[in-house]
Amino acid sequence: MQRYSKVVVLCVVAMVLCIFTSAFLDAQTPPKSAASAAKKPAVSKSAATSGGTSDQVFKNVQVLKGIPLDDFLGTMGIMSASLGMDCSECHIGAGTVKVDWAADTPIKIRARQMVQMMATINKTNFGGRQMVTCWSCHRGRDRPLTTPTLENVYGPPGQEMDDVLTNQPGQFTATQVLDKYLQAIGGADRLATVKSWVATGKSATFGGFGGGGRAQIFAQFPDKRASVTDFPGSPDRGDETRTFNGTTGWLRTPLNVVGEYELTGGELDGAKLDAQLSFPAQIKEVLTDLRVGLPTTITDLPAPSSQTKESGVAVSNQEKLVNVVQGRGPRGIYATLYFDQASGLLVRMVRYGKSPIGRIPTQIDYYDYRDVGGGIKMPFRLNFAWLDGRDTIQLSEVKLNVPIDESKFGRPAPVSTTKGR
Ligand code: HEC
Ligand code: HEC
Repeated sequence: MQRYSKVVVLCVVAMVLCIFTSAFLDAQTPPKSAASAAKKPAVSKSAATSGGTSDQVFKNVQVLKGIPLDDFLGTMGIMSASLGMDCSECHIGAGTVKVDWAADTPIKIRARQMVQMMATINKTNFGGRQMVTCWSCHRGRDRPLTTPTLENVYGPPGQEMDDVLTNQPGQFTATQVLDKYLQAIGGADRLATVKSWVATGKSATFGGFGGGGRAQIFAQFPDKRASVTDFPGSPDRGDETRTFNGTTGWLRTPLNVVGEYELTGGELDGAKLDAQLSFPAQIKEVLTDLRVGLPTTITDLPAPSSQTKESGVAVSNQEKLVNVVQGRGPRGIYATLYFDQASGLLVRMVRYGKSPIGRIPTQIDYYDYRDVGGGIKMPFRLNFAWLDGRDTIQLSEVKLNVPIDESKFGRPAPVSTTKGR
């Protein structure tokens, strides 16, 4: 039996993930859990910051060994999402002062067995291809359903698409869809003149922990990008920084399990793709192996009420008719792009990182396209959703072709160990 309604579970999952892997601390009312998680790191900091693998960084990793730290944390997101659980259902005291990530619990041991079972199923039946994942069976429940309900059989059909699309005949070609997009945001020639940009605005992290943050994005052609969210009014809160300098990427999220670390897995590929697509003129070179799916309808993710209030931007839950193009980016990661049929604009991208237990999805929704000079248009609102939480950035200003110091894209300053930790 599922123990909680889906909504409650998702909220709890997102909150806890948010606290441990991407949250900010509210200086006035620090959640105890996050502060204590930081005080009791279950990690080897040096292994983490030098891009060490899961079993080098953590104490009790037995099956998900030898994988990049970002992918390992992604597997925890997949387990939580697939089973509709939060971290504390497998980890003693997650979310309290007594968190002990390494300790085994019966359910954690069961989850470990499931990883092995899943790998065996895939090996024995699908030539080692990752066809069966936790989600294949669990679908947000701790115990999978066994019997089709007639409601399901005769009810409205599910909307979910395959992760990996095959070319559908009779549709626009990928080139046509991408050309329409480039035309809609200013035309290939004008876009090719953009070699850097700096954007400023505000951020509202899911749950309100990030409310009131200042957001900055720096981008340098062809593939450098940094995004920084900080709190000028309360510097003790720390900032969240993601950087990619064309080769290496870093993630700095104060008070999470690890703090600051080098990206070496799927998050590195994702960071590179985000950087490359910051300059859409090169989209047809960046994405390879293009295929077009059937046109479909997408709906905005419902915004958490705290975020709607704090950011002052209501999400309309609008439905959009979209053309769908999928391609492969850095190191072959899949990215699915959704283009508004009427305007041609890119309204959503879902990219998929790799992990031993399934793909790790990250979704970015783009809204509020505005002219940033010379007929070039850029989205001023970005909604990020990943397994660890959500973030909205509302930009107020974008400046094109401004010089950016190279250091912006490098390793962020280490997380302070003196303040609030
Ligand atoms: C369904 C159970 C389950 C859920 C939910 C879960 N984990 Fe885990 N976690 C595991 C298992 C199993 C391992 C050990 C993996 C192995 O042995 O390869 C583990 C290991 C870890 C470790 C390494 C600890 C150490 O020192 O060895 C960390 C850190 C961790 N999980 C964090 C999280 C976070 C954060 C969440 C919530 C986002 C979470 N986990 C949710 C099952 C779970
Ligand atoms: C082939 C289908 C299948 C796959 C794939 C699968 N599971 Fe399961 N899992 C089950 C079934 C069936 C049960 C319920 C068994 C029972 O009730 O005794 C279960 C039970 C569990 C439980 C115990 C839940 C509880 O509340 O007692 C955990 C934890 C779990 N699975 C984790 C995972 C994880 C993590 C993955 C991915 C690595 C995974 N499972 C993949 C079928 C699957």
